[in-house]
Amino acid sequence: MRTSVDTSQEIHPGSINVETLPMEAVDETELVYHQLCSADDFEDLEGKPFHVNGTHLAVFKYGDKFYAVDNRCPHMGYPMSKGSIRDGVLICHWHHWEFDLKSGGCFLASGDDLKAFPVELRDDGYLYVGLAKGEREAAIQRVIDRGKRALERGLKDRSTFFIAKAVTALRDAGATPNEIIQQGLHYGAHKSSDGWSSGVAILTLAANLWDDVDPKDHNLFLVHGLTQISRRTTGSARPYRAAFPRMSEEHDLETLKRWFRYFVDKRHSGAAERILLTLNDRDYDKSVLADFVYTAATDYYFTGDGHALDFANKMFEALDYVEWDGAHEILRPIVVDLVSRTRHEETSRWADAVPVLEPVFERLDSIWEENQANAAELDISAFTQVLLGDEFEPTVVAVEEKLRAGVDPRDICRAMTYASAVRTARFHLKNEGDWHDVANIYSYAHALYHAFAYAPSASLLRGIFHGVVFLAYLRWLNMPAARIPKPGQRIPDETYDSVDKMLARLQEFADFQKVYEAEILVNQYLEEGHDIDALKQTLAHILLREDAELHMFQVLEVAFRHYDLSEDSEERRMHMLAATRYITAQKLMKNILWSTENAERLARGELLSERDDD
Ligand code: FES
Repeated sequence: MRTSVDTSQEIHPGSINVETLPMEAVDETELVYHQLCSADDFEDLEGKPFHVNGTHLAVFKYGDKFYAVDNRCPHMGYPMSKGSIRDGVLICHWHHWEFDLKSGGCFLASGDDLKAFPVELRDDGYLYVGLAKGEREAAIQRVIDRGKRALERGLKDRSTFFIAKAVTALRDAGATPNEIIQQGLHYGAHKSSDGWSSGVAILTLAANLWDDVDPKDHNLFLVHGLTQISRRTTGSARPYRAAFPRMSEEHDLETLKRWFRYFVDKRHSGAAERILLTLNDRDYDKSVLADFVYTAATDYYFTGDGHALDFANKMFEALDYVEWDGAHEILRPIVVDLVSRTRHEETSRWADAVPVLEPVFERLDSIWEENQANAAELDISAFTQVLLGDEFEPTVVAVEEKLRAGVDPRDICRAMTYASAVRTARFHLKNEGDWHDVANIYSYAHALYHAFAYAPSASLLRGIFHGVVFLAYLRWLNMPAARIPKPGQRIPDETYDSVDKMLARLQEFADFQKVYEAEILVNQYLEEGHDIDALKQTLAHILLREDAELHMFQVLEVAFRHYDLSEDSEERRMHMLAATRYITAQKLMKNILWSTENAERLARGELLSERDDD
């Protein structure tokens, strides 16, 4: 091993001394010795901290020898220079981990070792520590690796505190959000036998909304997703499944897709999984996998209240985010959603829709052919009003006409998303539950918009018809319809001398669960043309400081993305009002009070469909 001595720097115990390393590749085995201090400065058993070129060291005198180790305990970072030595064993005082002073080896079987460094006492009476040229980078990598192990422990223990500690340590060490999200996705997909869970969906939403959120809230967002994952995983792994063995002549896609749909239909998840894994193993384009999954998700009526399609979309977004690294595991849970969730043609709620939609579905190929052959613009705002009609039969006819005329299916999905925003903004607080229904259609319509971008097909058109029928069913949830702030409406007797004060007031309204006041304020903010990014960050912050559940995150994402897509001020307004209402109202669940009030109103012969808050 080559060595050299660096005496150019004056280094004192505990001093901060940062040196920028050259960018060219370094030989990590090449040691550079740095002068520390006089050996006479040490008492026996004494530890001193040093900071050399970004490396934190704890140096000890033990007998007539000197030892150096990383000064940060691998458990939670206690300064090892303040530890004690007993019989050559270095003890951390925080949680009593014990290490071999000489090698840094940890006596706790599951504990991480301390990095040890060579120390020389030279003829000049000074101590010198040997650091590899790449030590700073190696130290960062050690902290990241340790953080990942800590995160795994936190996930296994279902400890939000340990998860948060690991996330903080990882981010401080320079781990990218991608690394943390990837670990969470892989753990969440692998350590469960369930479908795509809310935790992995929230982590995907963290990736999607990263730039919309105040950087101060980034760690919090990650902890939300990881905590949800920890609550929905058991720690034991999904049984292993492999792709089919390779053959000299592989099956054609038509056969594989027919089999996939057949096994999903028969609720045979293992068989369907193997087909998906085979497609991935053979490196088929993501559009092929997306076509298989989206087709199966829309083969049945609004599968799982739209969650099958929505989670499929989140899965493909997640895979793109991690560049399909670990796809073998991440792909598997969605099959559980495809086979096990409710198929609404089997429910009484949808019984009247089946005879209307089945003849349309027999015409899907011809609808698609005409759609691809023609081209037409859609007035999204006007068509949104059509989708908000009370009866679904005329809406279904209108959708087929637009598709045959050549309207881009994604524009119909945009109108469906806009109509869902209206349904959400009009959702009355005194409705009994059902909030998930408006969140589901909102998120579903957005997912369908993406699905048509990933893998457009005739089969996927079913999803549009399912969505418009469900929108019509939701009209009952707008009876009575909640008030929407009027143009120019303001909070009486309130003025704000800065945007910051406005946003602070918005948080107060959320704190005090004043939903309508929050909406009026957001309405004013938009009308006055203030910075939309600051409003998005505030809404995200309001959500993140609560124990928010998946639907709140979903609504936020859809509102932000469709605000960005639109240039229509009323459409934009409605998306932001929907997000404001959904997020602030979720804390306002006075179920006992309102259930009692509703029961009393019924007993008095009043109509619950009439509003009593004018
Ligand atoms: S910080 Fe050292 S044992 Fe916990």
